[in-house]
Amino acid sequence: MPLKNNTLPLSGLRALVTSGPTHEPLDPVRFLGNRSSGRQGHAVARALAQAGAAVTLVSGPVSIAAPEGVSVVRVVTARQMLAACRAALPVEIAVCAAAVADWRPLHASRKKLKKKGAAPVIALTENPDILRTLSRSRTARPALVVGFAAETENLAENARAKRLAKGCDWMIANDVSGGAGFDAEENRVLFITRAGAEEWPLLPKAEVADRLVSHVIKHFKEKR
Ligand code: PMT
Repeated sequence: MPLKNNTLPLSGLRALVTSGPTHEPLDPVRFLGNRSSGRQGHAVARALAQAGAAVTLVSGPVSIAAPEGVSVVRVVTARQMLAACRAALPVEIAVCAAAVADWRPLHASRKKLKKKGAAPVIALTENPDILRTLSRSRTARPALVVGFAAETENLAENARAKRLAKGCDWMIANDVSGGAGFDAEENRVLFITRAGAEEWPLLPKAEVADRLVSHVIKHFKEKR
């Protein structure tokens, strides 16, 4: 249950956070996925709840515990994640920290694929883009939409382009080359807004979340 305390800086505001990977089934036992642990997204959900927001955390399959004081919706695939996000609207704040699979196998076999003859060729199809859908919604766009960009090259340039392409307000870029960011305790990010970019040092993911939430608090204070 969301924490209730009207004296906190984000009380009265609703937030949606996506976290973790998505798993896109290939057959009943195999999937296309990635190494996201959910640590960063869960830390953001916790920090928003501690600041008084009513938080819905939509999480892909992770092995970490959900933070206290948030409503958790567990999903497996990108399409389920999008449906859960839509069901959580309206919210004032959306933070998409999930590592959503860009593609899924076009056909998921009902039976385990057998190893016989040549290796199978797996056709992929594009998944819906949740961040883009939320950012571009005509009827239910959250007042503040934040994305995370995982990049292995040209961090600032690619993340700036991604912010514009997806239509979100802020983009938090992490350099994930060499395995950083994913499934680690710490994260080094570039915080990008329309006004410019701030480089944050290597920090525990909880501190990245706290810094982000400080910016969220400032943003809504200025609007009120
Ligand atoms: O979970 P951890 O182990 O703590 O790792 C944290 C993290 C590295 C996963 C996290 O900090 C992070 O970078 N999350 C975004 C990873 C990602 O998918 O980046 P992207 O550049 O492919 O996507 C950009 C944005 O679009 C993201 O906000 C993503 O949630 C969103 N997206 C992407 C594809 C898609 N189909 N739908 C989306 O909503």
